[in-house]
Amino acid sequence: MRFEIVLPSGSIVYGFRFLNFCIHLRCIILAAAGKMKVFITRVIPSEGLSILQNAGFDVTQWTEKRDLAQRELIAYAKAHDALLSVGKNQLDAFFFKECRHLKAITLLSAGYDHVDIGTANEMGIPVGYTPDVLSNATADTALLLMLAVSRKAFYQHKRIQKGEWQFYDPTAHLGFELTGKTLGIFGLGRIGMALARKCIGAFGMKVIYHNRNRNLQAEKDLNVQFVSFNELVLQSDVLSVHANLSVETREVFNLSVFRKMKPSAIFINTARGDLHNEQELTEALKDGLIWGAGLDVTNPEPMAADNELLNMPNVCILPHIGSATKEARTAMAVMAAQNIIEGAKGLEMPHTINPQVYQR
Ligand code: DGY
Repeated sequence: MRFEIVLPSGSIVYGFRFLNFCIHLRCIILAAAGKMKVFITRVIPSEGLSILQNAGFDVTQWTEKRDLAQRELIAYAKAHDALLSVGKNQLDAFFFKECRHLKAITLLSAGYDHVDIGTANEMGIPVGYTPDVLSNATADTALLLMLAVSRKAFYQHKRIQKGEWQFYDPTAHLGFELTGKTLGIFGLGRIGMALARKCIGAFGMKVIYHNRNRNLQAEKDLNVQFVSFNELVLQSDVLSVHANLSVETREVFNLSVFRKMKPSAIFINTARGDLHNEQELTEALKDGLIWGAGLDVTNPEPMAADNELLNMPNVCILPHIGSATKEARTAMAVMAAQNIIEGAKGLEMPHTINPQVYQR
């Protein structure tokens, strides 16, 4: 038998109130049963889910094939004790003020540019995240893009599909080799170091980097060289971005920077799309200011299917899959589950962005 609830036309507000009512009703029933409730904003790998369920949590996952609206996120969060936030929902000042009851909040990501950490600190709310375990996978994605762009791999694949593979032409579609070239890393943290290790090992690349603060450990372990931002831009054959997104780094890669780069250089971004100005990157590629680009992150996301970057021979675009390996995503889900378990007990989460709140 199938029941339908027919709401009066134009009654989004009523629908939303009804949703809120159902959530609260469920909350009351479960509170009576004494279980802690966790809301997860996407379906996560089963390993993380079972850890939470075995620890006695009542878990709700958002299964719809669309992003949660902000008001829905807040409504669900209000009806739960803990939140495991996946993707780009904004944990902004309003969210923290509305959801200060949450016993634990964790992200399923290493990046936290969508979290207002200032407000979380002010309110003494710890926020968990999942660093490290995705460094290898993300560095692999950067390397994949470097090779794919330098050999025009996606473009060649599309040529075959279009029936354009007709004969062996020794002068056409030439790419360039990474061996012996200079890799410039903007933001040498864990992911940048993993990439440096791979590129030194596989291609004997010279690695230079620019950070706000020097990474002396990396200089010692990997023999990488700190340079000014200007030198990074001027010297790199491949420039790969691994910095956090912040007010200082937003659109730091823009036309004036692309103008300074070598015309033979490749720009790679696997960090955040807002670190580059996409329109100006497109112009730079069209005008031959740089040779190619590989992006796992775009601005906006998702990228429109008719974006002209998708049809350029020396460009490869991926849909933000940096950490999308079985190994990394499983480890992230497990780490996030452990954050929730400890946080809900009122203990320090194993991986917290703002551990200073525990010192209060
Ligand atoms: C991260 O961990 O920050 C990845 O980009 C997934 O969003």
